[in-house]
Amino acid sequence: EKGGYDYFMLKEIAEQPKAVADTLLGRIDANGSLTLDEVRIGAAELREVDKVVIVACGTAFHAGLIAKYAIEHWTRIPCEVELASEFRYRDPILDSRSLVIAISQSGETMDTLMALRHAREQGSKVLAICNTNGSTIPRESDAVLYTHAGPEVAVASTKAFLTQLVACYLVALYLAQVRGTKWGDEVSAVIRDLSHISGEVERVLETMEPVRALARSLADKRTVLFLGRHVGYPVALEGALKLKELAYMHAEGFAAGELKHGPIALIEEDLPVVVVVPSPRGRSVLYDKIVSNIQEIRARGARTIVIAEEGDEQVVPYADHLIRIPATPTLLQPLVSTVPLQVFACELATARGNEVDQPRNLAKSVTVE
Ligand code: F6R
Repeated sequence: EKGGYDYFMLKEIAEQPKAVADTLLGRIDANGSLTLDEVRIGAAELREVDKVVIVACGTAFHAGLIAKYAIEHWTRIPCEVELASEFRYRDPILDSRSLVIAISQSGETMDTLMALRHAREQGSKVLAICNTNGSTIPRESDAVLYTHAGPEVAVASTKAFLTQLVACYLVALYLAQVRGTKWGDEVSAVIRDLSHISGEVERVLETMEPVRALARSLADKRTVLFLGRHVGYPVALEGALKLKELAYMHAEGFAAGELKHGPIALIEEDLPVVVVVPSPRGRSVLYDKIVSNIQEIRARGARTIVIAEEGDEQVVPYADHLIRIPATPTLLQPLVSTVPLQVFACELATARGNEVDQPRNLAKSVTVE
């Protein structure tokens, strides 16, 4: 049942190109526009939406953080992202024009379920992004966009996360399409790029051997830090979460712009720091900032592990270890930059003798508070 792999997690990492392709299947038509028939919230209603609120836990929350960048950029609708466990216990400002998106692989996470009930009580429409047919969260939502990752057995989420991202992009692009935003050309270009993205995920998977070797060489470390900016920031959070849950190591993700506000004090000789670098094309200010962040931490002795696009030569002198990913549009980069972090955490866990599919103290579906 593990299909020749030692762990379900390895199998599920390898299944990601297919999971991504399956989640896109039938949702982009021949003219390059989106048909999300399952989203039973009408176009008129979607045009009225004046605020999007995303609620989720753990890895699904990280998908939501990335979705915010895409939704606000492509639709110009304000978007908030909140941990379901916080949202459900406060007094959020919501009404019938708020669209609440609940993201959950299992569809049974108690906090996410309670958050969506909280939203519906206030008259908001709830759209679920879910991987489990007929589970509680989609049943209690107004509409559902299923991710087609197939069953995810390993406790640590991998393929479900990538498909949650795809679903979030689809929702963002669909909202943009329905509302006819001024980003029309960019939206069609991104839809084209999305339809090829599973091949790029495949290419990343083919080049993971050096990442595994690097992970093994770090097995006796105590701490690993992760830095990113823009959509690279939630990717850093996700890389750190994977390492905590699988390798039981101290790991933290930071927004690179926050370094000077505290975390830089943690940098010491030989501390591994993973940095997710955005595309050098497009948003050059963002790119330049992160290159100078890498220089700053390296000057203080950090061992830099740099995830950068193919063809990005500027980072080479500052990278103690360089992990290449294919060039993608900025907002889609998490679909390729997360993959090496999953492989890294899985290999480190193995090297430390941990149970990869069943990390201690964790359950696949958190149906209690
Ligand atoms: C981390 C992980 C968890 C889940 C979280 C939400 O690898 O798997 O953080 O993402 O418990 O679960 P779902 O998506 O089922 O609501």
